[in-house]
Amino acid sequence: MAVEVLRTADGREKTAISRKHAATWFSARKSGAQLPIGNCTPPDRPARPAQPELLDPRDVPRRRPGTPQGRAAILHAIAHIELNAVDLHWDLVARFPEIDMPVGFFDDWVKAADEESKHFNLICDCLEQLNSHYGAMAAHAGMWRAAEDTAHDILGRLAVVPMVLEARGLDVTPGMIQIFKQAREDKTVDALEVIYAEEVGHVAYGSKWFNFLCGRQGLDPQPVFLDLVRRYFHSPLKPPFNEEKRAQAGLPPDFYWPLTEPA
Ligand SMILES: [Fe+2]
Ligand SMILES: [Fe+2]
Repeated sequence: MAVEVLRTADGREKTAISRKHAATWFSARKSGAQLPIGNCTPPDRPARPAQPELLDPRDVPRRRPGTPQGRAAILHAIAHIELNAVDLHWDLVARFPEIDMPVGFFDDWVKAADEESKHFNLICDCLEQLNSHYGAMAAHAGMWRAAEDTAHDILGRLAVVPMVLEARGLDVTPGMIQIFKQAREDKTVDALEVIYAEEVGHVAYGSKWFNFLCGRQGLDPQPVFLDLVRRYFHSPLKPPFNEEKRAQAGLPPDFYWPLTEPA
């Protein structure tokens, strides 16, 4: 199921399959008949639509939030992040079959993938209301780099994807909500509020399973985390941090403040 999502290129289609498979997983879990985990090699890179064109981040035009076009550009960038997140979570489900994980690990990442799929569709609906659509503008290339760099290191993957990249989302989303509140774009505000609430859970899943794996190996999580982020994430973390939401997600300050300094 994960690999089928990863091999589907179109965003609306990818997220529809993602939601369908998540529903199948959870209805089996509820009925007490858990689906077998299986073993299937995910593609090195997920299938993506022909549009948007993917550019180096330096070449993606700047977004001015004061104009409708600028706000559409922000939404386009968020849609791109959400679509990437759908693939990241399904990739995590399929990528490490040799590591024996409790069924709760799969529950969490299937739920996260399902929520990202919903987020992509919510944001696409808002974009379409602004007479745009996902694919209409250029988007950042290189979003899959974190996945490629950590394709053989589950602790590295958990450290960089949910605990660094998704935690960053908690820092910046309140500012985005403010922009759309000021523009009185209520539908977008509602969508961003849903995203903001659910992303706390994704960071928490990362923290939960990172700590689980460290505990199973008798490792002290904090120094291991700092070391992995320095190895796989190539720039210092940027304050200000959303300390309250990070704490709620199980990320204590000593997991990010030391990383604001170049190693
Ligand atoms: Fe999301
Ligand atoms: Fe997320």
